Amino acid sequence: MLALMLVAATTSWLCPLVTAQPLCRTRTLRTGKVFPVKEKIQGDRLYFSSGKTHLIKHPCNKNLALYLGRQIFLTKDNFESSLIPFSIPSSMQVGTPEVTSAHFAGSVLLLVVNQKVYVYDYEANFWTASTGIEHPVSHVSGDNCCYSGNSFCMIRYLRPTSISQTPEDTDFRSTPRKDVYVQCDENELAVLTRENNLYYGSLGIQSSSLIKFADQNIWSQEAVLMFTDVGMLEILTPLPDMIFPAFDFQKCLLNIQALLMDPQLQAGICKVELLQGEFENKMYTIDMNSQLELTALMIPRPGTLPVPLVMVSNPHSLGLQAVIYEDGYTYNGDTKHRLNISLKQQHHWGRADPNFTSSIKRPTISTITLDIANKEISCVDLKPLTALISVGCDLEKKIVIQNELSACHHGVLDPVALQDNYSYIIEREAYDPNFQGQQAEEDLEVYYPYEKLGCPLLAYYDTPWKPVVELWREGKFQEVVEAEYVLLEMNGLFTYTYSLTAGTAGCSAQPQNWTTITEMAGDTAFFSWDRENYMSCHDPDYHEPLRWPDVPYQILGGPTENKVVFDQRNGIYIFFISIVDPSYSYCHLETTFSVYVYGAFPLSIFPPITIVLLTVATLLSVWLAYMIPQLLHMEQGLEVSGFWARLYQRCRSSCACLWGRC
Ligand SMILES: *[C@@H]1O[C@H](CO)[C@@H](O)[C@H](O)[C@H]1NC(C)=O
Ligand SMILES: *[C@@H]1O[C@H](CO)[C@@H](O)[C@H](O)[C@H]1NC(C)=O
Ligand SMILES: *[C@@H]1O[C@H](CO)[C@@H](O)[C@H](O)[C@H]1NC(C)=O
Ligand SMILES: *[C@@H]1O[C@H](CO)[C@@H](O)[C@H](O)[C@H]1NC(C)=O
Repeated sequence: MLALMLVAATTSWLCPLVTAQPLCRTRTLRTGKVFPVKEKIQGDRLYFSSGKTHLIKHPCNKNLALYLGRQIFLTKDNFESSLIPFSIPSSMQVGTPEVTSAHFAGSVLLLVVNQKVYVYDYEANFWTASTGIEHPVSHVSGDNCCYSGNSFCMIRYLRPTSISQTPEDTDFRSTPRKDVYVQCDENELAVLTRENNLYYGSLGIQSSSLIKFADQNIWSQEAVLMFTDVGMLEILTPLPDMIFPAFDFQKCLLNIQALLMDPQLQAGICKVELLQGEFENKMYTIDMNSQLELTALMIPRPGTLPVPLVMVSNPHSLGLQAVIYEDGYTYNGDTKHRLNISLKQQHHWGRADPNFTSSIKRPTISTITLDIANKEISCVDLKPLTALISVGCDLEKKIVIQNELSACHHGVLDPVALQDNYSYIIEREAYDPNFQGQQAEEDLEVYYPYEKLGCPLLAYYDTPWKPVVELWREGKFQEVVEAEYVLLEMNGLFTYTYSLTAGTAGCSAQPQNWTTITEMAGDTAFFSWDRENYMSCHDPDYHEPLRWPDVPYQILGGPTENKVVFDQRNGIYIFFISIVDPSYSYCHLETTFSVYVYGAFPLSIFPPITIVLLTVATLLSVWLAYMIPQLLHMEQGLEVSGFWARLYQRCRSSCACLWGRC
């Protein structure tokens, strides 16, 4: 009674129903039996080991199934014709033809007979004994996937000891409903007991229900249950024939929804007529800080107010949260409810459990399910709608550097010249091809990739600067990125630094920098600083002691006001930018852009003392040039001019001597 107990444990209510009508109409399938023929069964007739019966359906072909019981039947038309019991050729020498387990894998059926695996190709009607499995096998199981193309499906062989022995229980038959395609869709269950009670269970996200149809005359030792559709249950029983070796099949089809609509049963009418969502059984991607919008339609029965519910599975506490927005409108006299479901990932900054934070960094899979709260037992057709959510990179996301202040708009650079195979020289004192900050051996000529970068941004050398990083999705602007990012000049220019140091940035640990990252990544990857290897120096779990608080802090964005500070040098810088914040997106957001730094006068070639003297001389002559005409027009000016006249007179002779004219 194991299966039954499990159901009872999760059930919120059990509803016994008694109906005077027979639950189902039986029909018997009997074909090809006009003239009695003594057919002989070839080979060893197989049988199922357990006292139970079992039905295995092919994962892709609805008409292909294997019945396991006192006889075994393989059908290719869903038991719509009489069948001879399944047997294995005597040449296989199986000994006891007892089957313990079976599994469909593509065009073959795997059978465990007498602790060995046999492969039956039902298309070619060809048997082989498996090779390579050394140990005895009791069970075979595997993924139920349709073998299309290169899809890879696992098959597992279990040793007799590795499976717990289930008690030989012949008192009930049960089946969960499995859809041919999504795996998560097992929300129905049926159990038939020897006491002739049929239980039907329906699992919802808030409540589950179990209905008991008592005193039905449908039990048989040979019966199997199977769902053919939502709320459609079939009871299949093979019937032996006295004259013919082929068995006939009795089928009894139950439409649970129709049964519950019977007013005699007073099962309570389902408040919802329709629940429909485009998203059902589809897969969606949601990135960090993104929102996913799904819509569904609900048509309530007139005069009722059913409450829709949404649930998200959260492996590793992903923090996914969904909200339903509902609005009703009337269309052709019917009231319909539009449900907008909004799904996003919540973040727990700072105080989160580190294990949680590290697990949300990794992409994973989740599910979202829409259902109705407190569904009536009669809502059989109304199964919960489920979609798969891939929590990972949204490939439509890109970063773009805002370029409102382009060097071309301001006439600093000429776009025509830039497009015409423009090149510039980086002097050897300013760059290091190995990004170590050491001067290069020779100057570098760089061809400017205008097609890729367009016109450079404009930055004044003397003003600390940082780019404005924008997030775009599907060609549309989303937001300005506030997350942490890093820059690296792609030609190895090192004539810039940062306004903050590890100390002034408030680091509690020694921050990473391009040198440490490059050492870590090895020589092969220069531009390898990203969300995977970034550790924030503000992270209390990053324990690198802060030994050099004076080194430049190379991370921009995020909590600090850090900026790039250029040296006194005009020129084009081509920057690689990488968003390193692991909580911003699952994507590796990176790009390249260029900046033209201007406004720097060339550095002086004179020593400083000469500059001071020159400046004093210049200032003095400017002062004199201003003061003299002023004084000449004033009272003192007359005296002064007299003084100058006398001086001139006196000087004329002596000064003339100076020039050798006396
Ligand atoms: C649901 O979404 C549609 C389309 O975006 C919008 O027009 C409607 O107002 C939304 N309803 C609610 C309740 O948010
Ligand atoms: C995080 O995970 C590690 C390893 O799984 C475990 O040892 C540690 O106790 C966990 N920490 C917390 C706070 O749960
Ligand atoms: C640009 O100039 C370089 C060197 O003169 C030359 O090798 C290259 O082919 C030129 N490219 C174009 C597109 O003109
Ligand atoms: C990078 O950080 C290390 C310490 O982690 C420090 O010794 C080194 O000087 C830093 N390099 C630069 C260029 O700031």
